Amino acid sequence: MHKLSFIFGTRPEAIKLAPLILEFKKNTSFDVNVCVTAQHREMLDQVLEIFEIVPDVDLNLMQPNQTLSKLTAKVINSVDEYLEKYKPDVIFVQGDTTTVFAVSLVAFYKKIKIAHVEAGLRTWNKYSPFPEEINRVLTSRLADFHFAPTETSKGNLLKEGLTDENIYITGNTVIDALFIAKEKIEENMPEIPGLNTEIFSNGSKNVLITGHRRENFGKGFEQICQALQELSNEFPDVNFIYPVHLNPNVQEPVRKYLSGRKNIHLIEPLSYLPFVAAMYKSDIVLTDSGGVQEEAPSFGKPVLVMRENTERPEAVTAGTVKLVGTDPGKIFNEVKLLLTDSAAYSKMANAVNPYGDGLASKRIVKIISQYFNEKN
Ligand code: UD1
Ligand code: UDP
Repeated sequence: MHKLSFIFGTRPEAIKLAPLILEFKKNTSFDVNVCVTAQHREMLDQVLEIFEIVPDVDLNLMQPNQTLSKLTAKVINSVDEYLEKYKPDVIFVQGDTTTVFAVSLVAFYKKIKIAHVEAGLRTWNKYSPFPEEINRVLTSRLADFHFAPTETSKGNLLKEGLTDENIYITGNTVIDALFIAKEKIEENMPEIPGLNTEIFSNGSKNVLITGHRRENFGKGFEQICQALQELSNEFPDVNFIYPVHLNPNVQEPVRKYLSGRKNIHLIEPLSYLPFVAAMYKSDIVLTDSGGVQEEAPSFGKPVLVMRENTERPEAVTAGTVKLVGTDPGKIFNEVKLLLTDSAAYSKMANAVNPYGDGLASKRIVKIISQYFNEKN
């Protein structure tokens, strides 16, 4: 049996690797081992539970308000021991977190093959997103299989001089996960903890908000909060639904500036199915998240991205995503436009799916199977 190891740490990595783990587990040629660094704790566990994935190894590394360097050092040490014991043939990492880069470095030191899922996303700006742009650039240097979601991401890897034959366009596994979630919520619409779901049926409009980017810490989050305060005053009948990321750098300003307002619903981070349900039922999405930029266009929801640039240009080109940065006036005006101008809203509310067709995991399993067949 071929030994595969899936190593991940945060909520989005878990969401995007879950369909692939489930797909590999269906195939008896593979021994699948799941190791979580638990760079995230509660937010990771929420996802594992939904997909019924029980890690074989849990390194339990998260510390409150952890620093990049300390986390990186801990991942390197712990994953080194794990790989020494399990000795996989191929490891899988997903995306651009600290876990992804640190794990890839250790696997490289041990000359273990590295499969990088969601390869080739770039802004070409070293500090935005920070530290993700450099995490993914360095991971691409280390990886052996590059699973690029789109033509554009493959093109980015070619520009960096990577070999064409190791790059595979597969679509993004986020859409595989979303299709699983959509089927489940359409069958049985979940409750949204902390929220009275009547707000979705009383005719009021709903704006869903998420945010956590490090480059927005401090001034950026203060400006985002200022825009939300002004919007909540101007539109008292609109609900602003905000599941607040657990990072203390996010919790602190958001709770300080936005608590106690009748139409701003500050709730705990949602488990994946309730979050997908909230996205499905909302009218507008305001976010700095990578994954949410990929998911919301599938539901035909206009997405305003509170960043200066994006590594996901496909939905911007398709017209369902717009970059609005963190200037409070700009955020206010763009949300106001979508709330008050039905033509502007309709223009953005197209269901497009530039990131995949739900079959990315199947393609990746096929490519890895072929690799082992040719090797034997
Ligand atoms: C991390 C990733 C980012 C990814 C994001 C997804 C890095 C450097 N950052 O950012 O790329 O987009 O996850 O959400 O890899 N915390 C909890 N419980 C949790 C999760 C976080 O309490 O379940 C708090 C802890 O205090 C923790 C802090 O948030 O120390 C920061 O977590 P960390 O993973 O370092 O950074 P994120 O901002 O979550
Ligand atoms: N998500 C979730 N609960 C929430 C907010 C987001 O399950 O309260 C999901 C969302 O559907 C997406 C992923 O988390 O798949 C995005 O994670 P995040 O924004 O933390 O990270 P990023 O994608 O920016 O790396």
